[in-house]
Amino acid sequence: MDPIEEFRALFTQAQAVDRARLPDPTAMSLATVSPEGAPSVRVVLLKGFDERGFVFFTNLESRKGRELIANPRASLCFYWPALETQIRIEGTAEPVSEAEADAYFSSRARESQIGAWASLQSETLSSMDELRERVAEVEARFANQPVPRPPHWSGRRVKPSSIEFWRAGVHRLHERRRFERDGDRWTMRRLYP
Ligand SMILES: Cc1cc2nc3c(=O)[nH]c(=O)nc-3n(C[C@H](O)[C@H](O)[C@H](O)COP(=O)(O)O)c2cc1C
Repeated sequence: MDPIEEFRALFTQAQAVDRARLPDPTAMSLATVSPEGAPSVRVVLLKGFDERGFVFFTNLESRKGRELIANPRASLCFYWPALETQIRIEGTAEPVSEAEADAYFSSRARESQIGAWASLQSETLSSMDELRERVAEVEARFANQPVPRPPHWSGRRVKPSSIEFWRAGVHRLHERRRFERDGDRWTMRRLYP
């Protein structure tokens, strides 16, 4: 009756599948909503999870970043075809700690760290040359020194209020089990497929 433990077991299985059949089990769809209530969805990478929630990192000034500041409700979806499994998560995105963001940022390749400064994620870009120029400027600014984490770059932890596991069954009799948080506990009910 612990969906986080169940997620952990499936994630371990997904990581063991060869990459030709399941290229990246950390890839997850993240849905947010605009102030007008319009949904948008994109793929981000899962960088950690535990009973507190599911963590990803991004530019806080991007579309998703701004939407989550205005309305922290978010939804995640994993699809692992090799396991015939879909996992849907709904919840609220909370900031990770500064220390957590620093630790992950410092673990990234220097090129990615420079990219985090150079990219005005989700803004209009006139040409790829403009992006290359910005990268060169950032490289020059931080030459011969570590690249600090930009103030607009951090992580969000989606604290789940529900987690649904879908597993393919024979003759379309798929199994759906939806866990809902009830205080410190989880309740589970089955849904028609
Ligand atoms: C496989 C894959 C992984 C990605 N991982 C991330 C990620 O971890 N963080 C991120 O900000 N964008 C990631 N992106 C890019 C996003 O999908 C998206 O294009 C970008 O964040 C801008 O989204 P937005 O304008 O809705 O904010 C990834 C894209 C792909 C295809």
